[in-house]
Amino acid sequence: MKMIITTDITQALPLLTAGGLVAFPTETVYGLGADATNEAAIRKIFLAKERPYDHPLIVHIADVSQLYDWADEVPESALKLAAAFWPGPLTLILKKQAHVLDIVTGGQDTVGLRIPHHPVALELLRTFGKGIVAPSANKFTHISPTTVDAVQEELGDKIDMILAGGACDVGLESTIIDLSGAIPTILRPGMISAEALSKVLNTDVQFSPGITSTTRAPGMHHLHYAPMTKTRVLTQSELIEFLSGLQATDLPMAILRYSDISIPDTTSLHCITMPKQAAQYAHDLYHTLRSVDHQNFKQIIIEAPPKTTEWVAIYDRIYKASAK
Ligand code: TXA
Ligand code: MG
Repeated sequence: MKMIITTDITQALPLLTAGGLVAFPTETVYGLGADATNEAAIRKIFLAKERPYDHPLIVHIADVSQLYDWADEVPESALKLAAAFWPGPLTLILKKQAHVLDIVTGGQDTVGLRIPHHPVALELLRTFGKGIVAPSANKFTHISPTTVDAVQEELGDKIDMILAGGACDVGLESTIIDLSGAIPTILRPGMISAEALSKVLNTDVQFSPGITSTTRAPGMHHLHYAPMTKTRVLTQSELIEFLSGLQATDLPMAILRYSDISIPDTTSLHCITMPKQAAQYAHDLYHTLRSVDHQNFKQIIIEAPPKTTEWVAIYDRIYKASAK
């Protein structure tokens, strides 16, 4: 398939209308877009990503008024969160309308909706006029792409077009909050924190089982967001101990350092110092993992960052990266 990379949004519209697949930038990660009402087009997304059909897709929209095209019930809580955080890295799970395709919802009675904050995504959604389903533009279980190169590497031979829009600002997937039940429930942590959501809602927000504030039970790890290279998360003291007993067979390896502990940076021990700020760390994480994953290291060690609330989403992703 001949794949086009362009910044010209008008070229994407006829492709989407014809049931094609167009990757586009959002502020979180690149998405793989298709017309949210076209079942045949959506089927191609699952084939391209090699994604199981029971994993539902997020419908991206341009305006809050479009909630009423997809959701059967739009609770006050949804309008409050939309007003506070959209456009932005937040997905709302709401009761769906009858017309919403099963292939979008995985056969559930809810639908995920989000207005992304990226000029290219917003312009595409406004001009297309309809909802666009968009999972992250990577193969199932791989790391989400935050650059055009990463999309091309993941799906370049399987899609019609990549709309180019630079590197993604946020760098991790949106926070997903389920508002279809009695208690607002975070299904996937993101850079909009539980505290920020709770403050706007003026009520408690819970994490779904398996996600606690900063720790995850090992059994809950999914094979998700994972580099090919064996990846481990070590606390600072575990890392110091590991380095003191380092074996030749451990090398070469990459270390994503968080603290100031000294690690010699040699060809066999490649040390990358990660940002101290959570937002900058999130922005860099997938790009850094992807780049070290290309370098034939025996392993990647991630030094655990702090466990405060702004790091919850980062914790979630680094533990998933190390789940293999
Ligand atoms: O930041 C993002 O959300 C990116 C960009 C492209 O918008 N998209 C993204 O999509 O991460 P994806 O498909 O990689 O992840 C969507 C997640 C899946 O884990 C899926 O299970 C969940 O959203 N999801 C979607 N609809 C749902 C629903 N009705 N109920 C529960 N979970 C849902
Ligand atoms: Mg994904």
